[in-house]
Amino acid sequence: MKGVLLAGGTGSRLYPLTRITNKHLLPIYDRPMIAYAVDALVQAGISEIMVVTGGTHAGEFLRLLSNGEEHGVDRLLYAYQERPGGIAEALGLAERFVGDDPVLVMLADNVFGRSIQDTVNRFAEQAKGARIVLASVLEPEHLRHLGVPELAPDGRVVRIVEKPEDPPSQYCVTGVYCYDPSVFEVIATLVPSRRGELEITDVNNHFIEAGAMAYDVTEGFWGDAGESIDAYYTVNDHVRRFGANLP
Ligand code: G1P
Repeated sequence: MKGVLLAGGTGSRLYPLTRITNKHLLPIYDRPMIAYAVDALVQAGISEIMVVTGGTHAGEFLRLLSNGEEHGVDRLLYAYQERPGGIAEALGLAERFVGDDPVLVMLADNVFGRSIQDTVNRFAEQAKGARIVLASVLEPEHLRHLGVPELAPDGRVVRIVEKPEDPPSQYCVTGVYCYDPSVFEVIATLVPSRRGELEITDVNNHFIEAGAMAYDVTEGFWGDAGESIDAYYTVNDHVRRFGANLP
């Protein structure tokens, strides 16, 4: 399975910290944010990784991660997103790297308390379609900034609503997504959303409508360190006390 780490965007929700650097290079406890995402993939057995970044600080990723040896990455590649066109557009840049393999995509500002190994193993068995990871989030205020699944009584995902006014469940869609290679055909059909971006939620809804979406619910801590300055510090506090990507 290939891994794609998405580390672009303007990081506007963390301004002015992100005026002088890329959000994914900011510290989480004692390491730059992206290091936790690289570790999450490597620990789950994924050692061919493409980092997609953009903006004015892209070169810093090379200096930081180099060829990936320090993290146990076999092959580390980089792609550059010319302008912030959304998560799905950024993933589209990895098409040739992914080829005919399944792919795990991770937003590099997401930090997990527990390893994502089980999701990777289950998707390897699933082989087709898509698989996402949900996290329980109790505060509606928080859910309004995220993608939220509507669940049927039997537990199936009916659809995902992006940034809902009225969250349809108490779960959010985290930034870990597994896809079969048909994801690139789906991306080719997308049209930009109101915020002018190709949305990953549109990709996921496509797999849901095709009856090809599975999910896991993470048992441990989950945080999106780029969601707000408070979320950034919540993630920092958690990692400092308990660590991340634990078995
Ligand atoms: C993105 C996704 C959203 C998901 C979130 C997780 O939001 O669009 O569905 O819940 O990542 O981090 P963004 O951070 O781009 O607003």
